[in-house]
Amino acid sequence: MHNDVLDSLNDYPFDRLRELLGDTTPPGGCDPIHMQIGEPKHPAPDFIGPILTQDMSEWGRYPPPNGTSDLRAAIADWLTARYELDAGVVDPAQHIAIVSGTREALFMAALLAVPGTRKGERPAVLMPNPFYQVYVGGAALAGGEAIYLPAGPETDFQPDFTVVHDADLNRTALAYLNTPANPQGSIAGIEQLKVAVTLARERDFVLAVDECYSEIYTGNKPPGLFDACRELGLAQNGRDIFKNTLVFHSLSKRSNVPGLRSGFVAGDPDLIRLLLRLRQYGGAQIPLPVMNASAALWRDEVHVSASRDLYREKFDLALELLDGGFGATRPGGGFYLWLDVGDSEAATRALWGEAGLRVLPGAYLARENENGTNPGAAYIRLALVHDLETTRVAITRLLNTLARSA
Ligand SMILES: Cc1ncc(COP(=O)(O)O)c(C=O)c1O
Repeated sequence: MHNDVLDSLNDYPFDRLRELLGDTTPPGGCDPIHMQIGEPKHPAPDFIGPILTQDMSEWGRYPPPNGTSDLRAAIADWLTARYELDAGVVDPAQHIAIVSGTREALFMAALLAVPGTRKGERPAVLMPNPFYQVYVGGAALAGGEAIYLPAGPETDFQPDFTVVHDADLNRTALAYLNTPANPQGSIAGIEQLKVAVTLARERDFVLAVDECYSEIYTGNKPPGLFDACRELGLAQNGRDIFKNTLVFHSLSKRSNVPGLRSGFVAGDPDLIRLLLRLRQYGGAQIPLPVMNASAALWRDEVHVSASRDLYREKFDLALELLDGGFGATRPGGGFYLWLDVGDSEAATRALWGEAGLRVLPGAYLARENENGTNPGAAYIRLALVHDLETTRVAITRLLNTLARSA
């Protein structure tokens, strides 16, 4: 006996990749390069080392479930500066939940938002297609029906909420939005964000905006949910400025510490309170030394700016080498190249077997749209997480291999 919904969640992209590549090994003498996973390899800031070890007695205490007041204050200050909010708009006591990385929080957003039925029908969960896999698992295990919104070139690689059928909007309990998006690196514009917030309020669903790549960009900083809330202004009748919305931020990509497992959710105080209740039952607190290090990281922008510069140099190099091939363009944000190679599985096999370059087929990050096409099927995703020289070797190998098999 088990929860049979789990049987339907049998297509995690990295499992499928392992299956696809099976026993294939890179050619002899060829050092493998792993670009399939978005695990930043830039150095983590040195200053967290001493913080993590300064008081060993902290490991002997259960951490406060919603973090230290110092960590919440650091996050409130960061949000205020990043989204140009007036002082005091973000209340560290009611607008912020500390989470052990955003993956678990994005999953729990579905448990939080999806009721048993919605207006007598099965609740719907809107999500972009391609998507971050956790949205699918959250929706399914919460009992919702995923509605996949095409996010291909025809919609500038972001979902268009305005085309959702009225009947589906009526039963929508939750909508995920990801900006900058994994895998395409596309940015939701401020108008699109405002439309999404307004729709969430009109139809009374939860808008969950995943912004874990928000600090990795080349030109202007991408707008975010809180820019939209600021522009829409305080609603009347005592409604909170963040009503119906939640934003998800992480230190994993911003500060190159995916192993720290540290992030936060901010937004509607009623939803934050329920998220904290949910976490009392099923969430892992982050350890006190990790909270202290996290507070220091949110207070420092020097390392973030240095990391951003390094990503920019790598995109400069990769795009120069690719010279427009495979539809390569500079993404609005994030650190992925999303390349149109025709057949994502065939290209992935060739790159690993012939060149020791491990990438992820875009087909594994998407589902078939209503018209029967998989919007990721033609693409591969490469995470530009290594140093400049490794990036040069990787792109050169890609060009040689795919030119050969073309
Ligand atoms: C779009 C997106 N959201 C959320 C996450 C989760 O990140 P973390 O749990 O490390 O905060 C990832 C990680 O790859 C991601 O790509």
